[in-house]
Amino acid sequence: MIPRKITEGIQWIGAVDWDRRLFDSLIPLPDGTSYNAYLIQGNDKTVLVDSVDPSMTHILMSQLEKVPRIDYVISHHAEQDHSGAIGKVVEKYPEAKVVCTKKAKVMLIDLLLLPEDRFKTVEDSETVDIGGRILKFIHTPWVHWPETMVTWLEEDKILFSCDFFGSHIATTDLYVTDEGRVYEAAKRYFSEIMMPFRTIIADNLKKLEPYDIKMIAPSHGPIYDKPSFIIDAYKDWVLSEPRNLVVIPYVSMHSSTRKMIDYLVPALAERGIEVQQFDLAVSDIGKLAMSLVDAATIIVGTPTVIGGPHPLAVYGTYLANLLRPKVKFLSVIGSYGWGTKAVETLAGMIGNLKVDVINPVIIKGVPKEEDFKSLDKLADAVAAKHREAGILP
Ligand code: FEO
Repeated sequence: MIPRKITEGIQWIGAVDWDRRLFDSLIPLPDGTSYNAYLIQGNDKTVLVDSVDPSMTHILMSQLEKVPRIDYVISHHAEQDHSGAIGKVVEKYPEAKVVCTKKAKVMLIDLLLLPEDRFKTVEDSETVDIGGRILKFIHTPWVHWPETMVTWLEEDKILFSCDFFGSHIATTDLYVTDEGRVYEAAKRYFSEIMMPFRTIIADNLKKLEPYDIKMIAPSHGPIYDKPSFIIDAYKDWVLSEPRNLVVIPYVSMHSSTRKMIDYLVPALAERGIEVQQFDLAVSDIGKLAMSLVDAATIIVGTPTVIGGPHPLAVYGTYLANLLRPKVKFLSVIGSYGWGTKAVETLAGMIGNLKVDVINPVIIKGVPKEEDFKSLDKLADAVAAKHREAGILP
């Protein structure tokens, strides 16, 4: 892509990664992503906001070919998809200083081997005058690492937010055109990397309230020219109570656990509860993570493998524990052949989740009449819990 004008003196630059399908060797990217950088021209100084993934350094450097001088490179976040080309940028512009938080400086030295004297660290709310424009740096930790900050440009009322409010979408749209599509991608992104830090994200949202934001320019996905859409979405994801939703990540080997799921899901639906089920052998874990943003209850379905839970159930449970969703209730269902410690093993993996555990239903072999009755009781228990929580009438 070539540089694109946002307003006089401010340009989008960066790279659109149409083909990337995995991030951090973990997170599916069904729609690719972008690494947005921005060029801000002051009367006195020129500023580059973030950079691009190392794999796309050549694209950024070609966009900078006709830029004679850069004074500041703002590094909001040390993760390499934004910082990865900074080494090349400061090599080309010997006068440029990398502007970042103190924590980011340590990380950038560790990750990029940048020399100490190339940094200018900034405190929370510190400003830098670039001539006709003043940059204000607002520390917003944990969006997505502890060192992160955002930049406020008062004159233009633009917030440069890096990962905060971002969405993994490859697109030629400079601005959001399809809110539904961006909502889904931004929610996916939130659930995968920011949900674990919900309370801090809430503080960060509060910190931004005094600013009359006209535009949010993130470092992934299109720019928000109607920012209330994404700010409201974040408030909902972070602050709202969980919904009347049960999420069932499960795996089945010879269909016994699957038969239990096939019985339980309509039983829950009949009681007025929404259910989303994910076969962990084939599911997009981003979809699972997204569903956990809203879920009140998780029910893990697992067969027993060599005495313990199936490794994919371990993976799903570990992931849910890592993401720390707002979920309030949890149970386990599954089948075993001759002996099992599946529940005990999974119970030891949910230390981050503040949940009431509802009696598991673990059966021997294929489900029989009495097992279906136990699943009915489980559905009743979930409905009762949801009613107590005020989310099921
Ligand atoms: Fe887009 Fe946390 O990096």
